[in-house]
Amino acid sequence: MRQKIVAGNWKMHKSLEESQALITEIRGLVRDEYRGDGKVVIVPTFLALPSAARLVEGTEIEIGAQNAHYEDQGAFTGEISVSMLKAVGVTNVIIGHSERRQYFGENNALLAAKAKSVVRHGLKVIFCVGETLEQRESKQYFRVIEEQISQGLFGLDRKEFANVVIAYEPVWAIGTGLTATPEQAQEIHAYIRKIVSAQYNDEIANETSILYGGSVKPENATSIFMQPDIDGGLIGGAALKARDFIDIVKAMR
Ligand code: PGA
Repeated sequence: MRQKIVAGNWKMHKSLEESQALITEIRGLVRDEYRGDGKVVIVPTFLALPSAARLVEGTEIEIGAQNAHYEDQGAFTGEISVSMLKAVGVTNVIIGHSERRQYFGENNALLAAKAKSVVRHGLKVIFCVGETLEQRESKQYFRVIEEQISQGLFGLDRKEFANVVIAYEPVWAIGTGLTATPEQAQEIHAYIRKIVSAQYNDEIANETSILYGGSVKPENATSIFMQPDIDGGLIGGAALKARDFIDIVKAMR
C-alpha cells in the first residue's frame, strides 16, 4: 500500500518562536484528533528546522526542508546541504517547487542533481511539478509534466526512486484560491503514474505517493483526496493555521 501524506509547506512565514508555537499546537492536535495511518510532514523555514525536529521527537510527525543544495559542502554562499539537513533530523526535502523554478531560475537539470542528492542520503524527496495557466490553456500540460518528471527524476535508478514522492501543483492554483477540480487533478495524477510505470514498472508506479497541491483547504480536501490516484496533499496557506491543517490531515483516509 502506498503511503498517504499531508505535508505543510510554510514557505517564508513564521519566526523561530512562532514556528515553535505552531508546531507545538499541531503536534497536540495530531495526537488528540488524528487516528489514521497517513503521514504528517511539517516543512518550516531552515531556521526552525533543528527545534522543529526536537519538538516532534517521539511522535509520528516528520520534518521537511523547502530546498537543499546538491553538493555536501563547499564554497556555495547561502546554501545548505542535504547532509546538514539530515544531521538535524530532517527526513524530507521539497525540490522543484514552482516558486523555486519561477523566482530562482531552477531548471530541470539543477533539480535532477538536487533530487539525486536527497535520495542518495536516504531522505524522501517531495518533487514538485505543474504547468502554468498559459500552458494549461494551450493544452501543453501533459508535455510539460512529462518533461519535468523525466528530466528531473528519471536519472534515478529503481532503488533510489523508492524515496520519491511527487507533488502535482498546477502553478495557476498555488496561493490563488483557484483549485484544480478533483477530476482535473485525477487526470494528471493518473498520467504521472502511467509515465512512472513506463519508465520503471507497475509495482513502483503503484507504490509512489502522488500528492496534489494548490489551494487545498478543509472544505475541498476530502473530494480531492478521494480520487484514486491522489495520495494526499502539499499544503501552503492552510498549513499556517493549526485548525485548518489538522482538518486537512483528517481528510486523509
Ligand atoms: P497553497 O500552496 O496551498 O497556498 O496554494 C501550495 C504550495 O505552494 O505548496
